[in-house]
Amino acid sequence: MVKSLQDTTTLHNGVKMPWFGLGVFKVKEGQEVIDSVKWAIKHGYKSIDTAAVYQNEEGVGQAIRESGINREELFVTSKVWNSDQGYESTLQAFETSLQKLGLDYLDLYLIHWPGKDKYIETWHALEKLYKEGRVRAIGVSNFHIHHLENLLKNSEIKPMVNQVEYHPHLTQTELHEFCKKEGIQLESWSPLKRGELLNDSTLVEISQKYNKSVAQVILRWDLQNGVVTIPKSIKENRIKENADVFDFELSQEDMEKINSLNKNDRIGSDPDEMTAGFE
Ligand SMILES: NC(=O)c1ccc[n+]([C@@H]2O[C@H](COP(=O)([O-])OP(=O)(O)OC[C@H]3O[C@@H](n4cnc5c(N)ncnc54)[C@H](OP(=O)(O)O)[C@@H]3O)[C@@H](O)[C@H]2O)c1
Repeated sequence: MVKSLQDTTTLHNGVKMPWFGLGVFKVKEGQEVIDSVKWAIKHGYKSIDTAAVYQNEEGVGQAIRESGINREELFVTSKVWNSDQGYESTLQAFETSLQKLGLDYLDLYLIHWPGKDKYIETWHALEKLYKEGRVRAIGVSNFHIHHLENLLKNSEIKPMVNQVEYHPHLTQTELHEFCKKEGIQLESWSPLKRGELLNDSTLVEISQKYNKSVAQVILRWDLQNGVVTIPKSIKENRIKENADVFDFELSQEDMEKINSLNKNDRIGSDPDEMTAGFE
């Protein structure tokens, strides 16, 4: 079982990825993102999840430099945006992200959304970057089983990670089983359903029993299910609170109670319907 904020899962290529990280979607470029990332690092986070489309890679890079942490201690993820899909444009997008971050390699580079017809050639660009040692691991985001099956048939390297919407209202059990079978690590985005789950009565009841917050219960549930989690906050007290999940363990019964809250309900787009950036 995961015991600390620094604990890692070993991806199928042997690279160690922290189970817990900070997400920075909708965090403003400049002081807001700089503060969030610096607080996270100060409180022991080792993993930061950004993306080209979040438009805050420069601030993430600045925060990393200002925090004074050794680059090798950190795990930095970014993603190629939909409008950059394609072989050459992905290679270019990767260079732009690295330059903005001010880094000379990434730990994980993801295809942000599958779209319809370009993700195979986009993946081939990620394979090239991986083989050249520009990125330590490559993966996908928002891939359904059918996207993964197609990718596996048409690629040399299996994705190491699939980052998808995942929380107690969307437990993605079939996708999770498929990923486990293929050795692909599942990673949860919007683990708190952007705050929508925090007043759920079952979760409130469980949280009181453990003397923890609802956010902590959900994030602990992620970890006990073997799912990497990257909650976002711009508030130092919440950044600290969210990561304080290593001093308790949910019982099997409570895990099942939380699993049973599933209603296949999304806060974001269904990957089959996502068109932004692809038009
Ligand atoms: N691959 C993808 O397509 C994709 C899509 C969406 C997100 N992501 C990644 O996943 C990360 C997390 O997802 P998310 O940002 O959408 O949502 P989230 O982490 O589920 O929720 C963030 C929201 O919850 C609030 N919050 C955080 N901790 C809290 C706490 N302890 N108590 C009460 N409220 C709390 C935050 O407000 P404050 O900031 O005001 O504290 C914010 O409004 C993103 O930042 C991004 O890195 C990826």
